[in-house]
Amino acid sequence: MDLFPKSYNRFKLTKFHLWINLAFFILLFISISSVRANVYKSVELTTPNIITILIKKTKTPKIGIMGALNEEIDLLRDDLKKPIIKTIAGRKYYSGTLYGRDTTMVFSGWGKVAAASTTTTLFNVFNVDMIIFTGVAGAANPTLNIGDIVLANKLYQHDMDARPIYDKYIIPLLDLIYFHSDKDLLNIAEIAAKRFLSEDLKTEISPKLLAKFFILNPKVAIGTIASGDQFVTDIKKVQALLIEQPTTKAIEMEGAAIAQVCHEYDKPFIVFRIISDKADHSAAINFQEFVKKIAAYYSRGFIKRLYPQISN
Ligand code: ADE
Repeated sequence: MDLFPKSYNRFKLTKFHLWINLAFFILLFISISSVRANVYKSVELTTPNIITILIKKTKTPKIGIMGALNEEIDLLRDDLKKPIIKTIAGRKYYSGTLYGRDTTMVFSGWGKVAAASTTTTLFNVFNVDMIIFTGVAGAANPTLNIGDIVLANKLYQHDMDARPIYDKYIIPLLDLIYFHSDKDLLNIAEIAAKRFLSEDLKTEISPKLLAKFFILNPKVAIGTIASGDQFVTDIKKVQALLIEQPTTKAIEMEGAAIAQVCHEYDKPFIVFRIISDKADHSAAINFQEFVKKIAAYYSRGFIKRLYPQISN
């Protein structure tokens, strides 16, 4: 008597079937693991018990662009594809695809508080992974001219003074003066800025306009940027600052506040500044025209050069 029905024999596992099944399960295992690795990353929280949580990992970094003046991001906004506008606390955030990358851009407003609150919203609401700040600055170092670019390697708040409890310039509780830019971002930013000046500037801005602002042979400088809630129009103020902080290259009103928030969120940032004036009595002359006709083109040109360099 046939103990097994015929159908059993038909589906009997041959060696061939076993190999096929094994290969299928190996492939399934590999693909599940790689999907998990791509979608999640583990993060350790330093709570009394270290908890490992799984969070969704963004496939490519989402970039936050901030400008301290509307005009500074005007041109970039025109290049943003499929923009979605969201207004939060009086600021308009434009999200979309910029030069192929997921981007949210915003005009931060002036001063440290405006810049810090905007940065916080970029992290908390728009989940950006890094901040690129573009704007203008006054020169603190006398070798810098109008139209030069300063990329911050570190920033401090020149109006922070909590003496006698803390030394001058120290940020209370954080116990530090300087916030450092991300080294990798700084390296690619330097290349991008240099390429913009050497290859794009003369096609982006008319020679007549460049001459009007005495922009002859602009250069890129890497150095310290000082930020404070003051538009500096007194060279004596700059000279006094240089005695205490001799490495200061440029002075502006937002950078160190953004840097502090990025430090607290542990996110990379870069601050790109175009020298618009020499922080002296003539600082405000032609300021608006410079921002609209020169700085806006620098900002767009720099970002265009920088974006392809940012790795995924
Ligand atoms: N941004 C541009 N020029 C400036 C200046 N002189 N002081 C502060 N911020 C500035």
